[in-house]
Amino acid sequence: MNLMQGSLLMALASAVLLWPQTVSAQVTNSSPVTAEAVLQIPKVDYRKQWVQIGSVSSLAEKSDEGSKQIDTTYIERENLERYLRDGKFPDGTVLVKELLVTKTEQLTTGKISYAAGDVIGRFVLVKDSEGKLGSGPRFGDGWGWAFYKGNETTKTVTGDFKVDCVGCHQAARGDDMVHVRLYPLLKR
Ligand code: HEC
Repeated sequence: MNLMQGSLLMALASAVLLWPQTVSAQVTNSSPVTAEAVLQIPKVDYRKQWVQIGSVSSLAEKSDEGSKQIDTTYIERENLERYLRDGKFPDGTVLVKELLVTKTEQLTTGKISYAAGDVIGRFVLVKDSEGKLGSGPRFGDGWGWAFYKGNETTKTVTGDFKVDCVGCHQAARGDDMVHVRLYPLLKR
């Protein structure tokens, strides 16, 4: 192998290594499949009827451009209350994390970013501690896992949760795979 081929290979290897973090695995499966019914986007108007446990904003590369994305996670009130009482999410708990496009503007309060409306996609987690709600590649580690692009509600691009989700959520394993510390509302 000459030097040129060697550095090409290196570049390829680092692209492959970096890829899952940057693009995240939402896009590994290019032909979406119909998800199990329990994993589909809830039919209720969760923005109005459920409780927001919190929001996370990802900054644009240049910080003076504000946020590029604001993600908000929702849960049903009853499951929130049971979590606060018992310290665990009851089976059937659904968490919906909605990814929204933002705008950044100068207002009288300063430069602010706000969720401008368009849905980039939605992540769904469904608590299934004993594997009773589902089986197969989108179920495991106590949850069902799926991502839906844009406003899609039934066809998921998630193939295997071990490939598409767990690598990142591993860091939250001590809190049952959920990033509990980011949500003051879940403080017990
Ligand atoms: C690139 C790493 C990464 C991947 C891949 C990923 N997640 Fe996450 N996820 C996170 C992080 C970090 C958070 C909390 C911070 C945030 O929202 O940015 C999070 C938050 C969530 C939340 C809100 C509850 C919580 O834990 O904070 C849900 C629901 C969720 N992810 C579902 C999924 C599902 C389902 C998949 C696979 C289809 C997945 N995620 C893949 C990193 C990831």
